[in-house]
Amino acid sequence: MSTRQIMPTLALLVFMASHVTAQFVLVDIRKYGARPNGDITMALTNAWKDGCESTIRSKILVPNDMYKLRPIEFKGPCKAPIEMRVNGIIQAPKNPNQLNGEDQWIRFGYVNFLTVSGQGTFDGQGEMAWKQNDCRIDKNCQKLSMNFGFGFVNNSIIRGITSKDSKYFHVNVFGCKNITFTNFKISAPADSPNTDGIHIGKSSKVKITYSKIGTGDDCVSLGDGSREVTILNVTCGPGHGISVGSLGKYQNEESVEDLIVKNCILKNTNNGLRIKSWPGTPIVSLASDLHFEDIIMINVSNPIIIDQEYCPWNQCTKQVFN
Ligand SMILES: *[C@@H]1O[C@H](CO)[C@@H](O)[C@H](O)[C@H]1NC(C)=O
Ligand SMILES: *[C@@H]1O[C@H](CO)[C@@H](O)[C@H](O)[C@H]1NC(C)=O
Ligand SMILES: *[C@@H]1O[C@H](CO)[C@@H](O)[C@H](O)[C@H]1NC(C)=O
Ligand SMILES: *[C@@H]1O[C@H](CO)[C@@H](O)[C@H](O)[C@H]1NC(C)=O
Repeated sequence: MSTRQIMPTLALLVFMASHVTAQFVLVDIRKYGARPNGDITMALTNAWKDGCESTIRSKILVPNDMYKLRPIEFKGPCKAPIEMRVNGIIQAPKNPNQLNGEDQWIRFGYVNFLTVSGQGTFDGQGEMAWKQNDCRIDKNCQKLSMNFGFGFVNNSIIRGITSKDSKYFHVNVFGCKNITFTNFKISAPADSPNTDGIHIGKSSKVKITYSKIGTGDDCVSLGDGSREVTILNVTCGPGHGISVGSLGKYQNEESVEDLIVKNCILKNTNNGLRIKSWPGTPIVSLASDLHFEDIIMINVSNPIIIDQEYCPWNQCTKQVFN
């Protein structure tokens, strides 16, 4: 064989090696037209499409630059485990009207074996929305979008990234099974309205570990149907503390079972640990097996509250069923 014939083969091998290392495909958004300071909605949409179609593990890379992103949905099921590694800063539109009334800015749905990782920040740029938030006085207030929605996502890990200044709740976890948030950071000012950290509903085996959550509302809240939830070594503050509920506002809610809160610090929060349920709903669901262990509270106004007549802004008839 002459050298001439060998050369093209080698080039192909080197090319393969740079794209398929350690059995994964690297999907770099720069190859999809992403430019620093540009809008990456199309690039990420197409990168996800290719990553999700890949029959071997794929890793989508958002490099360490600044980017803009409109509302987006990352939908499965995918053909193999998929990772999104974000090292840069991704900004949401400032004006809430540009979120097109979406519940969430970034949605992951119906994915199995998803990893979201990196040192990056998802900046909801909520300041303009917070000023427009009138939900305290108007029940039909404008719907503001959360930074993240994880819906029907199984066996997944969210690691390292930061959720900043969401317009509304930072993270909503719904219908998920075995999802872990670790070394996850949430930050928003103490006076930002309704910027709850992580809200869980109808999900099981949810873990939040080694994380720091400072925001304007609940640090973590557990809605109906939250089961086997572990909150371990999490620091909360500022904010409104860790909350079970509110429960019992609606008919046919599912129970909350098996909660472990351990080795956590609550600092500069107005509440510590809270369990709240609405009056006036026939009892169909239970909150049981709730464990709180080794909790340190520093400058917490109401360390422990169990409120079975939770009724903010007189939204209910205070009739109690027993
Ligand atoms: C997640 O798990 C549930 C319950 O086991 C299952 O019904 C669903 O299909 C799974 N979703 C995905 C995307 O794998
Ligand atoms: C939960 O998900 C993680 C991450 O994908 C996986 O390593 C682990 O095996 C899963 N656990 C169960 C019980 O399926
Ligand atoms: C949380 O974990 C870190 C790192 O492992 C450790 O230094 C810290 O003491 C832990 N905090 C609590 C409250 O256990
Ligand atoms: C105590 O927490 C409140 C918020 O609940 C905060 O405004 C205040 O600055 C904190 N005090 C100290 C000494 O950190």
